[in-house]
Order: sequence, then structure tokens, then C-alpha cells
Amino acid sequence: MVKIAPSILSADFSKLGEEIKDVERGGAELIHVDVMDGHFVPNITIGPLIVDAIRPVTKLPLDVHLMIENPDQYIEAFAKAGADYITVHVEVCRHLHRTIQNIKSHGIKAGVVLNPATPVSSIEHIIEEIDMVLLMTVNPGFGGQKFISSVVPKIRQVKELAEAKGLNIDIEIDGGVNTETAKLCTDAGATILVAGSAVYDKADRKLAIEELKRSTM
Ligand code: DX5
Ligand code: ZN
Repeated sequence: MVKIAPSILSADFSKLGEEIKDVERGGAELIHVDVMDGHFVPNITIGPLIVDAIRPVTKLPLDVHLMIENPDQYIEAFAKAGADYITVHVEVCRHLHRTIQNIKSHGIKAGVVLNPATPVSSIEHIIEEIDMVLLMTVNPGFGGQKFISSVVPKIRQVKELAEAKGLNIDIEIDGGVNTETAKLCTDAGATILVAGSAVYDKADRKLAIEELKRSTM
């Protein structure tokens, strides 16, 4: 069964704790935290302070997606704040292997993110070292964008690459996931779906999560 990771980017930040509890009660498996720096992506969002603040609110793993330049500079702060997963973009990591070791040195799970135009070959030599591959199905920076369906073959490629190496890693999809697009992702091999607007823009988050899961069957 696919796991759902609601992105708090689309939550009401004036009551963030309650918004997180709402999706936890609704059957979410992870909480996706979108960190943006205004450099790698045009938008600015949140930092370790918010991760620290939400850590006691939920038992769910915090899946921290770093859309920032120089991620190495901030990995320790996010790990100490309570991140369970940290994912970094291959496009900003000049020494990706070192960055992955940095994340794992804090005893947490490490993942690599690929933008829509970045080929799967860019992770061929690091996939043994990581717990998760995150494929962007929008250009990162904003919630509520349209799913880029030309990324779907990349999901299959990651799955085949992992299988060829005998690895059982998570394949997470982020961007434009809804009841129309979720099944395309899971049929191709996705194991975790990030959903921002498809969950938080709905009044009944439990129903939204159930409908997403049902749409993949
Ligand atoms: C985009 C973020 C996504 C975003 C997803 O840069 O990484 O996690 O919040 O939002 P939806 O599901 O609305 O596309
Ligand atoms: Zn994200």
C-alpha cells in the first residue's frame, strides 16, 4: 500500500500543530516539510526552528525536503531539530557522496531529489548509499502546480535501477499528486506520494487521504 506524505506547505500556518495532527489522525504516514531558500528556488519558506516546533506534535516521521543551496551547512541543524529523513537535490550537491554521509552521520535517513529535467543516471553511483529517491513531478518552488507526466518513465527507471542492484529503497513523488495522477506514479513503482494541495485544500483531510490511496488501487 502506498504511503501518503502530506506537505505542510499547503497547511494553515496559523495553526500548524493542529493541521499536522489532523493528517496524522487521517492516516498519513509521513509529514513532508518543504524548506526553500529563495536561491535554489524562487520561494522562501521555513527553517529548522519550525521543524523543532512541530517535532513534539506528531509521532510521524518528518520528511525534510531541502530546496536550498549549500545543504551541508544546514544538515546538522535540521537533524538536531528532529528530521527523520533529509533529502537533498542532486542539482546543488557538488560532493553528493559526502553530503549523503553527512546526513547519515546523524543517524537519520538520507535521500536524493531529482528535478524533472535531471536524468536518473545522476544517481546511478549513489543509489546504494541512500534510503530514498525523490522525483519531482513539478519544478520545485510552489505548491499547487500541474503534474509533469513526462517524469513518469523516470519512476520506472529508478525502480529498475534499484532492482538491478538488489535494493529495496523508497521512491517518493512530489508535485501535482492528486486522484488523477497518483495511480500513474504507483503503477510505475512509487512507494510514497507527497500531497500538498490534494490534502490540505480539502476540508476533510481523512477523506482526501483515503481517496488518494483508493485511486491507486
Ligand atoms: C514543491 C514542493 C512540494 C509541494 C507539493 O516545490 O516540494 O512538496 O508542496 O504541493 P502539491 O501537492 O500541491 O503539488
Ligand atoms: Zn517537497
